Amino acid sequence: MSDLLVVSDLAKSFGGIKAVRGVSFTVRRGKATSLVGPNGAGKTTIFNLITGSLRADTGSVLFEDRELRGLSPSQVARLGISRTFQDLRLFATMTVLESVMVSFPDQLGDRPTALVFRPRAVRRQERQLREKAREILAQVGLSGQEGRRAGELSYAEQKLLTISRSMAMGADVWLLDEPASGLDGDTLVQFAALLRGLVDNGQTVLIVEHNLRLVQEVSDWVLFLDQGRLKAEGSPEEIFQNKELQDIYMGGGVV
Ligand SMILES: Nc1ncnc2c1ncn2[C@@H]1O[C@H](COP(=O)(O)OP(=O)(O)OP(=O)(O)O)[C@@H](O)[C@H]1O
Ligand SMILES: [Mg+2]
Repeated sequence: MSDLLVVSDLAKSFGGIKAVRGVSFTVRRGKATSLVGPNGAGKTTIFNLITGSLRADTGSVLFEDRELRGLSPSQVARLGISRTFQDLRLFATMTVLESVMVSFPDQLGDRPTALVFRPRAVRRQERQLREKAREILAQVGLSGQEGRRAGELSYAEQKLLTISRSMAMGADVWLLDEPASGLDGDTLVQFAALLRGLVDNGQTVLIVEHNLRLVQEVSDWVLFLDQGRLKAEGSPEEIFQNKELQDIYMGGGVV
């Protein structure tokens, strides 16, 4: 099946505010889908509904035919859906290498019994994971930075590190919340190329982003949300050349 996530008739109100009003869309396997729209359109709320941070009033979210509605964030994550946050949430004092290494799931070293009874297996796995972490860091362009503290990296490097962590987690779908905010010039081009390369290698991503250049360069499909409704969807060209959508976007106060 090529639809990895199927969102149907999702709705969420906060008191009198109808943040999401019956939204339906699909996220296709191995594609980059972007969710765009003016401030307050409901984009982050949709992420929160998919990942279990918020409970939907109505509707459903299917992930490989499994209903996610009602699951907790950790249950959703365990099924293979990872999420990054705009504020990055890195541990400033951890090294770059450690930040990636702790992101690998199911580590023997997390189990006290394995530490006691199988110390050699734990050490062997740690060596393998260190090697894998180095490969990932090389792939995103952070070779040579392994020993630096995450907090010492430039903002653009920190963004690359969050992607490295997603790669280590190995989730089927990545929900990326404004992954390119604050990037411009070369750093934006480099980041867009990295993300596109990962998608070309089979990774599925759903991106919320105000940086429309990134959206245009990376997306296969764009969902345009306005006032809690899916106003339009299409190829990046179709969406960004549409005058009505341009006016709505600008009218939303997005700069
Ligand atoms: N926890 C909450 N309590 C009350 N209202 C909320 C809450 N979260 C979001 N809202 C409201 O729901 C609407 C949609 O907000 P949301 O954050 O999903 O928009 P967004 O599309 O992510 O906007 P932005 O581009 O500015 O991040 C807004 O009117 C917002 O004020
Ligand atoms: Mg938001």
